[in-house]
Amino acid sequence: MRLTPRSEDHFSFGLWTVGWQARDPFGDATRQPMDPIVALHELAARGAWGVTFHDDDLIPFDATQADRDRIIKSFTNALRETGLVVPMMTTNLFTHPVFKDGGFTSNDRGVRRFALRKVMKNLDLAAELGATTYVFWGGREGSETDAAKDVRAALDRYREAIDFLADYVIENNLGLRFALEPKPNEPRGDILLPTVGSALAFISTLEHQEMVGVNPEVGHEQMAGMNFVHSISQALWHNKLFHIDLNGQHGAKFDQDLIFGHGDLLSAFFLVDLLENGGPGGVPAYSGPRHFDYKPLRTEMTDGVWESASANMTTYLILKERAKSFRSDPEVQEALRDSMVYTLSEPTLDHGEDWKSFMADRTSYEDFDVQKAADISYGFVRLSQLAIEHALGAR
Ligand code: GCO
Ligand code: MN
Ligand code: MN
Repeated sequence: MRLTPRSEDHFSFGLWTVGWQARDPFGDATRQPMDPIVALHELAARGAWGVTFHDDDLIPFDATQADRDRIIKSFTNALRETGLVVPMMTTNLFTHPVFKDGGFTSNDRGVRRFALRKVMKNLDLAAELGATTYVFWGGREGSETDAAKDVRAALDRYREAIDFLADYVIENNLGLRFALEPKPNEPRGDILLPTVGSALAFISTLEHQEMVGVNPEVGHEQMAGMNFVHSISQALWHNKLFHIDLNGQHGAKFDQDLIFGHGDLLSAFFLVDLLENGGPGGVPAYSGPRHFDYKPLRTEMTDGVWESASANMTTYLILKERAKSFRSDPEVQEALRDSMVYTLSEPTLDHGEDWKSFMADRTSYEDFDVQKAADISYGFVRLSQLAIEHALGAR
């Protein structure tokens, strides 16, 4: 089993993850700021392939143009030295107080226009750095009281913003696709587009819907009580899984942003199985970055930060190996057949069958042995136990 990450694994990290100083609503920072250049070297040394960031993670909000140019130059040099790529970039529309009521959906029109300009500036930078995905996480797009937000108007403004920015990307040939990241709450009491399902429905109304997909985060979907594997399956089914944020979460509570697999481990096992083996004939179902969006525990100093970065990648590689062992076990294959898992791929209707010929088929109703079908034992317990035994390394 190979547990050493390599660039071919396509592991990427947000600068804001390893760089988190562990300031939370109840306590001060427990760690010193991390120089992004140091982060690049440390990540590369541990086998990461890519790095992602919000504009403000690299370039301070109030930087002058000269500062901005200088910072980008040294960052580009570090990318060259380390061989890291920038597959994704995003905008911080949540930290500065100007965004306290949102960016694209703030009640203040001036703020909405300012937010658009802030994104446009960084779409150019993303393209320059070779990114192919631009993420939109609308952490402040929401409300605490239903008296304060006309949600339908807010969704109009959200759509106006994404349509407008998509036009900008197309007209300037920036080669970027957009990925919307759902989250149910935190920092707002309630956030717009709370789940993958809501984001997919919203995307279907966009002018350039072909260039907009989702960036689901494990913990965000689980905060809303959703099954992450089902959400990812549906995103794949719509061809909308443009990016993914891997981390860990223990059920419906505040956003824990734990290390990947350090929350719901069994769900992480099935997720890796889906991503790596879920394509036709057992090939990967997703070929994009394996991106970690987590927070190193507040209790840890620099050694713990780097240990946590490696832990994300190692856990992923272990689960990938475990999922392969699950898929290649003849007993599992037999159990999958016995449980009729594969027969779900057969269309319910015969080729060309219309409602008249369907009604004429007595075996589907009049002669169907309802009792016999009701008495079937599906064997899902055996399958589930086999999965657990493989996940735990007992097979
Ligand atoms: C969260 C979010 C953020 C976003 C990131 C991208 O944990 O609430 O994951 O970290 O992913 O800001 O814009
Ligand atoms: Mn999160
Ligand atoms: Mn995220």
